[in-house]
Amino acid sequence: MIKIAPSILAADFTKLGDDIKSVESADYLHFDVMDGSFVQNISFGFPVLEAVRKITDMTLDVHLMIDNPIRYVQKFAEAGADIITFHIEAGKAEDIQKTINEIHNHGKKAGISLRPNTPVQEIIPFLDSLDLILVMTVEPGYGGQKFMDDMLPKIYELRKNINNRKPGSDLEVDGGINIETAKLCVAAGANVLVAGEDIFHSTDRAAHIARLKGLVL
Ligand code: DX5
Ligand code: ZN
Repeated sequence: MIKIAPSILAADFTKLGDDIKSVESADYLHFDVMDGSFVQNISFGFPVLEAVRKITDMTLDVHLMIDNPIRYVQKFAEAGADIITFHIEAGKAEDIQKTINEIHNHGKKAGISLRPNTPVQEIIPFLDSLDLILVMTVEPGYGGQKFMDDMLPKIYELRKNINNRKPGSDLEVDGGINIETAKLCVAAGANVLVAGEDIFHSTDRAAHIARLKGLVL
């Protein structure tokens, strides 16, 4: 089954509650945290996550684009995250497994994300303990960018590895997703589609989510 994860980075923050209600037919709610260091941009953090947690039962899919994410696992877990995904490039190599364990110790699902230039091989040692792998299909930092076609072989390669090692894990794609690029990603093996502008800028969001969900291989 394809799962859809609207990214609230593309929502209207003056009416965030209404915007979240308008996408509740989706599966996950994608929450992009940017620190102005790991990525150039700064988005939002704990107070916003706590507020979002209060108004929805959706699975909160927190994508940390921050340096040394291990420092903040506890706070994001307490603020209401259900899935915590961090970047493999964002901290010390010896902290990667520790960060996964810390997320699990807080009873949350753990994900790792790869920037476009990071090879699949880097994530392989951690596959058995991950619940989600997030392939960035744009350079992280901003919504509304163009999908990078050259990420498709990476998705395909990861799907093969996940099927062999941990078939229940999610393979999520993020950046420039629309009906056309979503089809390519699903065909390559992705099962969770993050979409910001494509969903929030559409006139009928629920219908658009249904269209994305109904994609056939
Ligand atoms: C980018 C973020 C994405 C972003 C996607 O760094 O991780 O989640 O919101 O936006 P769209 O779908 O508009 O490309
Ligand atoms: Zn994201």
